[in-house]
Amino acid sequence: MDQRIEGRFSGTRAVVTGGAQGIGRAVVGRLAAEGAGVVVADVDLDRARAAAEEIRSSGHAADAVLVDLGDVASIERMVDEAVELLGGIDIFVNCGGIVHNTPLLDITEEEWNRVIDINQRGAAFSSKFVGRQMIAQVPEEVKTAGKSAVCYGKIVQFSSISGRHGRPLQLHYAASKAAVISLTQSAALAFAPYNINVNAVCPGPVRTRMWDVNVAEKGAIYGRDATSEAEQFIERIPLRRAGTADDMAAAVCFLCSADADFITGQTLNVDGGFEMC
Ligand SMILES: NC(=O)c1ccc[n+]([C@@H]2O[C@H](COP(=O)([O-])OP(=O)(O)OC[C@H]3O[C@@H](n4cnc5c(N)ncnc54)[C@H](O)[C@@H]3O)[C@@H](O)[C@H]2O)c1
Repeated sequence: MDQRIEGRFSGTRAVVTGGAQGIGRAVVGRLAAEGAGVVVADVDLDRARAAAEEIRSSGHAADAVLVDLGDVASIERMVDEAVELLGGIDIFVNCGGIVHNTPLLDITEEEWNRVIDINQRGAAFSSKFVGRQMIAQVPEEVKTAGKSAVCYGKIVQFSSISGRHGRPLQLHYAASKAAVISLTQSAALAFAPYNINVNAVCPGPVRTRMWDVNVAEKGAIYGRDATSEAEQFIERIPLRRAGTADDMAAAVCFLCSADADFITGQTLNVDGGFEMC
């Protein structure tokens, strides 16, 4: 059911990484539908442009920029370009990421670095550069007072239920997502004097391209086909279904809304109860 709240983000400026597809695409679409001017940021610029075009064709403001979350300079450029397009950033959602399933004894330094660079360092430096921009938007008198009644920004990072527990095939992925929980708390504390809120979401299994990669890789390692691997996952979810990208977008939009102004440093499971099992 479409639960969008008309005009909730009117007048705000939002940037969503990984916005070209999957969860990020649902997030950026919903933010735009609820009134935000949006920038779709992705390493796949063609797909990001197509997503922005789709959003514009349904009557909302959208642009696309290139970002490689594995490259710190590229993250800084994304922030500069988004500010040029939007005039500032009020909402930032970092959905871009990658997964690999590899037996621990086979993980190479190169694969470790790639997952950590994109998922963990990308989350850290996107918070840094976006936070710096949001702080620059805070009036001087608020900076001097060190507190504010007005919220000056919302940042949402993407962790994973894999970040809550160890995973035998995800030494790097699970570590990167556990780090997101920690760096969300650090950024929340650092930006609290400016009333900039930083939170994270932990999805359980969500049907996107990443889910397809996940079940195919795990199935290949365990000698099961992807369909039965997926069914095994779903059987373990108390609500008996996989999540959807729209489920994630709904939670993100809540965290970005005024209803969540007093929530910061938190990581919200959106997983149908998966973590309890
Ligand atoms: N799908 C799931 O089951 C699931 C579960 C837990 C957590 N998550 C997390 O949710 C987030 C979104 O996942 P998804 O399922 O939509 O994945 P997806 O693979 O469908 O989409 C990921 C997007 O990130 C982009 N991306 C990949 N590498 C990038 C890079 N270096 N720089 C910028 N963009 C990059 C891709 O181009 C793509 O548009 C990820 O952080 C993922 O770890 C997903």
